[in-house]
Amino acid sequence: MTNSDIIKFLTSKTTNAGFVDRLKIKYRPIICPFIDLIDFAKDKKSVFDIGCGSGQFCALIAKYTGVEKIMGIEINERLVKNANEVNEEFRTNKSIKFEVFDGKVIPDEIKEYDLVYMIDVFHHIPPQQQIEFMQQLQQKMKPGAVLIFKDIDGGSPLVVCNKMHDMVFAGEIGKEISFTKAKDMLSKAGFKITNSFKKTVFVYAHYFVICKKQ
Ligand SMILES: C[S@@+](CC[C@H](N)C(=O)[O-])C[C@H]1O[C@@H](n2cnc3c(N)ncnc32)[C@H](O)[C@@H]1O
Repeated sequence: MTNSDIIKFLTSKTTNAGFVDRLKIKYRPIICPFIDLIDFAKDKKSVFDIGCGSGQFCALIAKYTGVEKIMGIEINERLVKNANEVNEEFRTNKSIKFEVFDGKVIPDEIKEYDLVYMIDVFHHIPPQQQIEFMQQLQQKMKPGAVLIFKDIDGGSPLVVCNKMHDMVFAGEIGKEISFTKAKDMLSKAGFKITNSFKKTVFVYAHYFVICKKQ
């Protein structure tokens, strides 16, 4: 599987999504390292995606891994509608569902999932709620489950590019924290960090923190 493969798959999708949502569904793999992220799900049976957007990452998990059960939650009802359309083809042989959530109370169902993703969502959570959100997540995940926390490095000068991106595509300025602060925050929330690394794609300074709920 290459980036061209996943872009080809996503560009083949027909949905009723609007122009900007369609752009994000089809071309997000150009700026977001989805292939590295998908790799973490290769030996897993169930995946939970917090802030799943239009569900294109869940569709990639459904297509390129053996994961049988997928759930995405998202604060934007329009994106949940997109996610249902984008993942329609997988409903016959996988358990797939998407739900609107309030951005605060994580569904208890998260306990049923082996692998949890948070991809570029943390910097959209209001700063005063960020720590509490991660503590709640740590408490609700099942013991042994893994969190893949992927965000943009607020400590990199390139963060300005992501801020401009968010201003254009999300109409808001993100609250990115640095790679170091993210690891500290995740440890304080009770997670055990098993791996962490950075990867810059074009002008986007990504970092990954792999965490385990003990
Ligand atoms: C940059 S997008 C990433 C979408 C998706 N994870 C991906 O990588 O394609 C950030 C998403 O987080 C969602 N979001 C914003 N605030 C949130 C919050 N407080 N809790 C959960 N999700 C939130 C937004 O609606 C948006 O879909």
